[in-house]
Amino acid sequence: MKWVLLLCALGLFLYCEAKQLSRCELVRELRRNGFPESTIRDWVCLVEKESSRRTDIVSKPNFNGSRDYGLFQINDRYWCSNTNRPGKDCNVTCKELLSDNISKSATCAKKIYQRHGFDAWYGWKNNCRGKPLPDIRSC
Ligand SMILES: *[C@@H]1O[C@H](CO)[C@@H](O)[C@H](O)[C@H]1NC(C)=O
Ligand SMILES: *[C@@H]1O[C@H](CO)[C@@H](O)[C@H](O)[C@H]1NC(C)=O
Ligand SMILES: *[C@@H]1O[C@H](CO)[C@@H](O)[C@H](O)[C@H]1NC(C)=O
Repeated sequence: MKWVLLLCALGLFLYCEAKQLSRCELVRELRRNGFPESTIRDWVCLVEKESSRRTDIVSKPNFNGSRDYGLFQINDRYWCSNTNRPGKDCNVTCKELLSDNISKSATCAKKIYQRHGFDAWYGWKNNCRGKPLPDIRSC
């Protein structure tokens, strides 16, 4: 029982320590990584729905056994490699997509966007398309 409590406390601690960006931090990071200004509110909406702006989040397995990684919840079926070697279409490891330095995640997300647009993300399709987008005027 003691152990369970300890593990929970530890789990919670790690969870609390892990990196969650504020909305304005996210906006800054997106700008720094060259996302066009006209698309930033869509990206903010997408990231908020997909990962709650957490850089280190890994999804539970999807119905087909694949998982989604990081801020943009990028799928390991096509885009990132689960091994220690960079690979698949973004030529990265999935682990690299969990970094607080979002550079690799951002490059990969842009590649997905170039190919499929925002429709590649259910979080965007279901919650952002045609809806009011986040207010970033104070950022
Ligand atoms: C697996 O599921 C994910 C999320 O639902 C989806 O993005 C991906 O395209 C699917 N892959 C295959 C091969 O069906
Ligand atoms: C993939 O990335 C690695 C470094 O992370 C690089 O050495 C390699 O040339 C890249 N491969 C391709 C096909 O771009
Ligand atoms: C983030 O990573 C990229 C390359 O992966 C590097 O060029 C850049 O300097 C890094 N940024 C910071 C703030 O460490």
